[in-house]
Amino acid sequence: MHDFRSFVNLLEESGDVVHIKKEVDPKFVLSALIHKLELAGKAFVFENVAGAKLPLIGGLLLDLERVARVHKISPAKKFTRAQHADLVLEATDNPIAPIVVNGGPTKEVINIGDDVDVYELPVPTFFEDDTGPFITGAVGITRNPSNGVLNVGCYRGLIMSKNKISINASTFSDLRRFYQTAEEAGDGMYIALAIGVHPALLMAAASKTPNDISEFDVASALAGKPFELVKCETSDLLVPADAEIIIEGKINFDDKIWQTLGEFPGQYGPEIDPTTEILAITRRKDSKFFSVMAGPALEHANLGYCAVYDMERIVTNSLKKQFPNIKDLNLMCDPPVTGPMFQLFISIDKKDDEEPNQLIRAAFEAAGGIYPISRIVKRIVVVDEDVDIKSYRDIEWAIWSRVADESKILLLPGYLSWEVDRASDKEKGSVRVGIDATKKLADVDKLKRPVVPGYDDVRLEDYL
Ligand SMILES: Cc1cc2nc3c(=O)[nH]c(=O)nc-3n(C[C@H](O)[C@H](O)[C@H](O)COP(=O)(O)O)c2cc1C
Repeated sequence: MHDFRSFVNLLEESGDVVHIKKEVDPKFVLSALIHKLELAGKAFVFENVAGAKLPLIGGLLLDLERVARVHKISPAKKFTRAQHADLVLEATDNPIAPIVVNGGPTKEVINIGDDVDVYELPVPTFFEDDTGPFITGAVGITRNPSNGVLNVGCYRGLIMSKNKISINASTFSDLRRFYQTAEEAGDGMYIALAIGVHPALLMAAASKTPNDISEFDVASALAGKPFELVKCETSDLLVPADAEIIIEGKINFDDKIWQTLGEFPGQYGPEIDPTTEILAITRRKDSKFFSVMAGPALEHANLGYCAVYDMERIVTNSLKKQFPNIKDLNLMCDPPVTGPMFQLFISIDKKDDEEPNQLIRAAFEAAGGIYPISRIVKRIVVVDEDVDIKSYRDIEWAIWSRVADESKILLLPGYLSWEVDRASDKEKGSVRVGIDATKKLADVDKLKRPVVPGYDDVRLEDYL
């Protein structure tokens, strides 16, 4: 697998990186340009961001093809979400311990105490009502207070002053629990943000791993070799020795703030988080600041899928015990389509007409990791085997072709959502929708899909 720098080199060689040399305003102009470059499928380097010392790089893992290329898999164009899930889950099941080294490129420049100035970094202010500039491409490293295991996740960080940031932890994150434990115990808590890290670590950080396994171990397994970690200057945390930039900090639970950022569901994401005093910034001499477009954007969505793989596996395994006729399951979280809540599509070879509705009710209650799946899923659609559950278009086709009477649509009120379902009433919860888009057994022949026999075996090029 490619590391951060070798992947950037690969993209440079294939002409996939746009270099912007003109000075760019980090407030709104930078995010507008990043978004446009994302849509054009380009990686980018902004070499001159006003007021900053370092260049900004991004747009690396925009789609599955890029994920395949970083894994050195070809043909990259045919790489599927299911194949990526297999790689991440295989690494989660077969972790490799990292090793500790004495130094590394991330220590080439060391600024401690008064020398710290986070404004050297080209941090964008993305949207109109954002509280300020946000670091979005960092992984945050902490120790699980209950077992000392190094925990890594992707968390946004608001820049507040030259040595103060605020790092967000959603209710979905382990970090939120660590914050609570440390605050209740009155213990100090250290955190390190690593920016510009090996893509394997980005993927492991974005995924959910068991609490006794560090994401560094999963990342090492994904990368195919142990990560090299180096000790922080101001705490006993360990960080990747080859990271572009490390921000070392101490959380201050006595100083909490309200902060918001335009988030992946296409809404603002107000949160209350503690602030963090920056104790040191270490980095490579020629380091590049990695940033991920905020809001409903491609790279964020692509990385975000890593958190879904394990949930999908848990739900599939538990539902198949009860409903052995299930053929396949797709937990879909493509923000422009799904918004803050995900959708679950299940194909089934049903044996009676009641089965889909029973399955929908059971699926909303099924465990999906730390929460029942209903916390994050708003709509479940059950379809026949001849519908492609990976295709949103095909799901829509099934709904509009195979649903005739209202008994096939369930409206289930009063479910609790995770906090990103901002439209949901905290007291009343919010509605869940189930759609049985399977053919009635009596209609199986009447609603048959037209197919061309042998279609896949007929090659156009043989006839040209
Ligand atoms: C680009 C990106 C940004 C993210 N930002 C946040 C964030 O600000 N807060 C948060 O709690 N989770 C965020 N997530 C999701 C977490 O990284 C993910 O849930 C992870 O598993 C959390 O790790 P933890 O449970 O070990 O704390 C983000 C994910 C991605 C891909």
